Amino acid sequence: MPEWLSSAVFYEIYPQSFKDTNDDGIGDLQGIIEKLDYVAELGCNALWINPCFDSPFKDAGYDVRDYKKVAPRYGTNDDLVRLFDTAHEKGIRVLLDLVPGHTSDQHAWFRESCRDEPNEYSGRYVWTSNAFEGIRDHPYISGMADRAGSYMLNFFASQPALNYGWLDRDQKWMSAPDSEEAVATREAMKDVMRFWLDLGCDGFRVDMADSLVKNDDENKTATAQIWRNVRDMLDREYPEAAMVSEWSNPYQAVNGGRFHMDFYLDHWHNGYNTLLRDYECNKTDNSFFRAEGNGDISRFLRDYLPKYEAVKDNGYISMLTCNHDTPRPARTLDRDELKLVFAFLLTMPGVPFLYYGDEIGMRYLDVRTKEGGYHRTGSRTPMQWDRSVNAGFSGCEEKDLYLPVDKSPDAPDVQTMMEQEDSLWHAVQDLIRIRKQYPELQADGPWLPLNRQGHYTFYQRGTMIIGINPSKETVSLSADLSRYVPVYSIGNVYKGERAVRLEKSSLIILRKTEEGGI
Ligand code: NOJ
Repeated sequence: MPEWLSSAVFYEIYPQSFKDTNDDGIGDLQGIIEKLDYVAELGCNALWINPCFDSPFKDAGYDVRDYKKVAPRYGTNDDLVRLFDTAHEKGIRVLLDLVPGHTSDQHAWFRESCRDEPNEYSGRYVWTSNAFEGIRDHPYISGMADRAGSYMLNFFASQPALNYGWLDRDQKWMSAPDSEEAVATREAMKDVMRFWLDLGCDGFRVDMADSLVKNDDENKTATAQIWRNVRDMLDREYPEAAMVSEWSNPYQAVNGGRFHMDFYLDHWHNGYNTLLRDYECNKTDNSFFRAEGNGDISRFLRDYLPKYEAVKDNGYISMLTCNHDTPRPARTLDRDELKLVFAFLLTMPGVPFLYYGDEIGMRYLDVRTKEGGYHRTGSRTPMQWDRSVNAGFSGCEEKDLYLPVDKSPDAPDVQTMMEQEDSLWHAVQDLIRIRKQYPELQADGPWLPLNRQGHYTFYQRGTMIIGINPSKETVSLSADLSRYVPVYSIGNVYKGERAVRLEKSSLIILRKTEEGGI
């Protein structure tokens, strides 16, 4: 386990929308380099950058045309190396986005595999043996290539599935997971990883990490076996490299695949969904962090607790404010509610991820789809840096912007929020600082919920107690608190010898000391 993960706080950057330095309307690597001091000032010490590789951008870069080449619109490979080096000088690690399940249909491997003549890449993708034969229960395309066969899709129509084999096989054309061609795909992906790790990257966020072997069993054992093989390579050759999976099943990803961390994604009715986006599956929004709702922490705990217990000795569950696929939390939560969201994410075990702009409460915008974003596009708009033209994102003409900037009169921006002492931005900065100051609040510190239900939560992390009350009621916890002192609070809170009371929308962090105090 790379030791640096225990104190890591990640910042996700969607490169298109972070900072444009050549005024072409789209973000670039130089823009990220120029904003590294900002990331450090906020307190984050690691980045996840969405795919920045050569691509026709039918799925915002998740359709890779060349794994080893930076997309010209972002810069060059040398720029990315400069980004790694500058980030490292500032104590920031950098994860790239690895897309192992599929490529673009314009990737050279795919073009070769479309040819009628057998070649090195004929087995690199999933093909049937005749153009009139489909693939049961999976999307596929026929009639687009000279090769007599249909090819399987892993996501959109432009993203053919790479071939890692099939566990359950009933057709001759289905490769076994240990076949020569399936192993060659795995080794090709390791080659891509080595390429960037040798240039200085610190690991990968892995796209659809569970999608490799087809007809895998319910535990995804064959896919997990591939990731264990990858992890063995990393442990031997790059022990400091970190891997986080887009899987949302830590039993399989962490315990099975030996990922260091697994994202707790926004899946309907799971614990994470009940915290911020309950409105997606219920008519009444009872998200735990929504003051007006009727949230109940038991819904989160039922899902999270067994997962946490099962993986805590092997790796981490990563909670996130949102990502490039999910609505921003500010869609339904106001700034006070968002402060409590950050307080929670930054005092829970595991490794937290903040999505760019969430630290200022950027909104989810109603904008036209871009590069296969569809409803996700509203979470991908340009970062709002200041009160200047295009919110300081780019000096281009408005019509040339990659996506429109939030122009509402009260749109938040970094400059204004830094100037206001009680802003969301400062609360986030304070909370990251406190997490860094007290190792018990970090990834490995113990965690024990002190109440199992209610529209509030108290939990213990070693010698620290955290109380968060998003509701409109006053709540309290009775305990011997004579030796506890407050470290941080938001809203109206009262701490006595035998109880702590939290009025509406408030938070307290307590720490046990030798001396004690009130
Ligand atoms: C998950 C990514 O987060 C998403 O943006 C992408 O469209 C799909 N995987 C396909 O790669």
